[in-house]
Amino acid sequence: NSTSPMVVVANRLPFIVQKNAETGQLERKQCAGGLVTAVAPVVVETNGLWVGWSGRHLEDGDHDIPEANPKDNSPTAGLKSRQVIPVVLPKKQFDDYYNGCCNATFWPLFHSMPDRALFQSEKWEAYRQVNEHFAKLTVEAVVKLSETNPNSVPLVWLHDYHLMMAANSIRDRCDKLGLSIKMAFFLHIPFPSWDIMRLFPWDDELLQGILGCDSVGFHVEDYCLNFIDCCQRRLGCRVDREQMLVEHNGRTVSVHPLPISIPYDRFVSLAEKAPQVVKNNEQEQLLLGVDRLDYTKGLVHRIRAFETLLQKHPEHIEHVTFLQVAVPSRTDVKEYQELKEDLDQLIGRINGRFSTPNWSPIRYIYGCVSQEQLAAFYRDSSVAVVTPLRDGMNLVAKEFVACQVGEPGVLMLSPFAGAGTSMHEALLVNPYETDEFAEVMHRALTMPKDERELRMKQLRHREREHDVNYWLQSFLKSVDCLVDNNLTPG
Ligand code: UDP
Ligand code: G6P
Repeated sequence: NSTSPMVVVANRLPFIVQKNAETGQLERKQCAGGLVTAVAPVVVETNGLWVGWSGRHLEDGDHDIPEANPKDNSPTAGLKSRQVIPVVLPKKQFDDYYNGCCNATFWPLFHSMPDRALFQSEKWEAYRQVNEHFAKLTVEAVVKLSETNPNSVPLVWLHDYHLMMAANSIRDRCDKLGLSIKMAFFLHIPFPSWDIMRLFPWDDELLQGILGCDSVGFHVEDYCLNFIDCCQRRLGCRVDREQMLVEHNGRTVSVHPLPISIPYDRFVSLAEKAPQVVKNNEQEQLLLGVDRLDYTKGLVHRIRAFETLLQKHPEHIEHVTFLQVAVPSRTDVKEYQELKEDLDQLIGRINGRFSTPNWSPIRYIYGCVSQEQLAAFYRDSSVAVVTPLRDGMNLVAKEFVACQVGEPGVLMLSPFAGAGTSMHEALLVNPYETDEFAEVMHRALTMPKDERELRMKQLRHREREHDVNYWLQSFLKSVDCLVDNNLTPG
């Protein structure tokens, strides 16, 4: 249904609005990431709308959305300000929803780390209120689209764990206005098993919230089956695991595995143009990590394994450097602040222990680097170490593979990332097993060229075929199928 106008609803807009310190003017600052690159073009093409937070709060004043800078050539440049519906809320309410519930409850819980999750009724209340506000703005967007496209049924596409309670309110409000819509939800993180989900005190409400959509998408089949299982066990829904259908309140909801991917060709061309990364010497090998600074990414486990490598294989001293990019993330949440301190200390200790006058083992960038710079890092590294403890998909693994346009490198991958279920030619490594982790690093650094070539060729072929456009087309197909799906009467 690629011609239906689309309302995308996500916590974030595809850019942040900031005040220029010199001119005082509001301007757009691009956010990188799979969602924006994949979805923005289709919103532009269908003349659709995007509902989301601009990065500003009610107290900040100035809530207008500026047009894109004429020099902007990013995927969102074609998105006119009239296509953007900003969500503006008081700072306290937004904090309770975003830091308190989304990132201190759902993020750890859905990544199967319940000990880190906080369950507080007032944060959950803020979450529900903010979802209600998103729902109200979404329906205003639907009304707007229906006026300009009276003969088509708009598609509302809700994204991620921030918006699991918006669908029923959107549906009720549209029903009252006599508006038909199709509604889909896509979760960008894992969906946990019933054992974990049942720890959330309001799990029944949450599941019913998601079931307000017609179609629900997850990255991989396991997450789909977890969701179906929870609906059956908690809500007593009739389900069909083979067809991936859930019946609820007289409606049938279809569930789809839709593994997200990257703009493959774009990364190839970035890698072909990117300038050389400066190394200590020609022979130096780089191990590369690129992550938001998040406890799910397994950064501490990875750096400890690197320390073990240097200890057990001292031949790598002065010849191998670990380059870690850690993007600051959710810095108002305690767990993230503690992780930063732990990592700073660990890296300082290891650099102190192994550095020589001409070499330090770890190059650590605490900040965000451009995609052009990332492409150079990917291309010029010998090994990418993508070892999250848990991750919905992980796009870094895919971007690394796309950028292998010269001498092929090696991908080390955790089986606990969604990407680990399909990228079979990577060296799989359990990040919790430190000694084995170090041995796999050694194996990756010393892998013969013919084996590297063979593995990388197959990895690249798969990612080229299943790029982000393939993901988007699969999603649109899955939405088209809605009318044909029904459980057999019983
Ligand atoms: N990224 C970036 N600059 C950086 C680090 C990361 O643009 O300095 C991008 C990276 O290219 C990737 C995204 O951030 O597209 C991270 O996505 P991923 O799925 O790996 O993890 P997430 O952050 O969504 O958990
Ligand atoms: C993950 C989530 C996204 C989120 C991103 C960055 O990829 O699935 O929804 O936007 O992390 O996190 P932030 O909290 O800065 O939006």
